[in-house]
This record gives sequence, structure tokens and C-alpha cells, in this order.
Amino acid sequence: MTDRSIPLAGVIGNPISHSKSPKLFRHWLKTYNRSGYYIPMPVQEGDLETVIRTLPSMGFVGCNVTIPHKVDVLQIADLATDRATLIGAANTLIFRRDGKIHADNTDGYGFIANLKQGAPGWAPSIGPAAVLGAGGAARAVIASLIEVGVQEIYLTNRTRPKAEALQSAFGTKVTVVDWVQAGNMLEEAATVVNTTSLGMQGQPELRVPLDGLRRGTVVTDLVYTPLKTRFLAEAEEAGCITIDGLGMLLHQAVPGFERWFGVRPEVDVDTRAAILG
Ligand code: ATR
Repeated sequence: MTDRSIPLAGVIGNPISHSKSPKLFRHWLKTYNRSGYYIPMPVQEGDLETVIRTLPSMGFVGCNVTIPHKVDVLQIADLATDRATLIGAANTLIFRRDGKIHADNTDGYGFIANLKQGAPGWAPSIGPAAVLGAGGAARAVIASLIEVGVQEIYLTNRTRPKAEALQSAFGTKVTVVDWVQAGNMLEEAATVVNTTSLGMQGQPELRVPLDGLRRGTVVTDLVYTPLKTRFLAEAEEAGCITIDGLGMLLHQAVPGFERWFGVRPEVDVDTRAAILG
């Protein structure tokens, strides 16, 4: 039996040196005066299963998982939550005392928690959502929007068949819009989400005409480098409520920290400052 009195957790990825999670967990461990460690672990694809199966016997109570392993860990886990299965990827593994590995996906939770924090009046009933992009992040965003009760989601992607594949997975609440028509779908939207990598440092800008955006629309970007993307800056100028992507990253870590270290951490200004500093 492993001693779990000083819990160990960490994040698995490749590469992993850029990950903000170790800094975040260290901040919360210190803030809440918890004993424990959170370690970045670079793991090659071929070693993934061996590593995951070994960690519990070393005192690990769980770990986060990031690129490129989020899809593969779902096959390795013994059990998965419905939301992880629906999204087809996991970012949080819980090593249970009975030896079973439980996979969860908290990205969608983090997305919704960030929306609610950034726009306190936000509710699923405020109207349709418009989602730009149809990659892994879009899957988590769409799953969570449907889970909380958003009735209508417009989805656009440069490569249309990927948007259509998501529509098949999520059903009639999702309507695919052509990439060149993306500006038009914004007129209907109460919530707009950029899940593409456009606007990220080193990537081209997201160039969608924003003139259709209504004042008061909630606009969020999953990109957080830079924190204020050009897309968010233009939406702000158009009178929208804008929310940057750092909050999603912070909120998605909350369930893991609570599970492993026994206290539910706040995502507050100090947390943001600790990560940005
Ligand atoms: P993630 O897991 O972050 O969602 P991903 O699965 O690689 O990453 O998805 C990246 C998204 O950004 C996709 O929607 C991609 O569009 P395509 O499916 O057409 O590739 C979008 N994207 C990346 N570069 C883009 C570009 N130059 N123009 C338009 N969309 C782009």
C-alpha cells in the first residue's frame, strides 16, 4: 500500500516544459497550505501506458494529461466519465484506491466556469452560440454548451467536413455554417467562441468580419497568448463582453486539485497573477 499522506500529482505531455499547470498547482498548494507535489512529466507516446500504470504505485493520486496524449489515455483508463467519452479525450486521470484508473475531461467544465465568471449574467438561455473551429477544443466546448442547455450552436470551420463530423456527433442542435459565411452567424449569436489557433502568437490573425456582432454579446477566445487577442480587442470595441482564454485553463484544473489535495481552489486575481508573473 502506497503512503498517500503526501499526495503526488502531475501533468503528462510531450513537450511539457511550456505547461502552466505546475506553476498553478504550486500556487494553490502554497495558498491553501497543503502538503503535496505536482510534477511536469515528459512522456513519449510509446511509454504512455507503462508510465500511467506505474504512477499509482509511486504515490501518485492522479495526473493531468495534455497534448499529444489526451485521446490515447482514454483507451488506457479502466473507466471514463460520460463527458470524457462524449468528447473522446481526457485531461484528468484519477488513480483510485481500488487500483482502477478513472478518466475525466474537465475542459468543458473550465470553459463554462470561465464564461460564468467573466460574464456573471451569462446563462444558456441567453441565445444561440457561435463556435469557430472544429478541433479537439471545439469538441469540449460544444459538449459543455449542450450539457448546460444551450439550444442552438452555429459551427464553422475552415475544413468543413470536420465541422460536419462534429454535427453528426452532437446532433441537431449544431448547424454547420460555411467558413466564408462566418461573419453572418455572429448576427444571431449571444455567445461567440474562437477555438481555432488563429490569433495565437506566431499564428495568422483570425479575420472574420465582426460588424454583425451585437452589443452585449459574450465573446471569448481560447487563445491566451496574447491575453487580449485582436479578435477580443475588436469585439470589445464593438461593445461586447470579452473573456480571455486564461481563465479556462485555470478553471479546468480546479476539479483535479480538489480531488487530489482536498480543497476546492478559487480562481481569483491572485491565481491569475501567479501564473502571469
Ligand atoms: P485544438 O485541440 O486546440 O482544437 P486542433 O485540433 O489542431 O487543436 O484544431 C485547430 C483548429 O484551428 C481547427 O479548427 C483548425 O481548422 P482546420 O480544421 O481547418 O485545420 C483551426 N485552424 C488552424 N489554423 C487555421 C487557419 N490558418 N485558418 C483557419 N483555421 C485554422
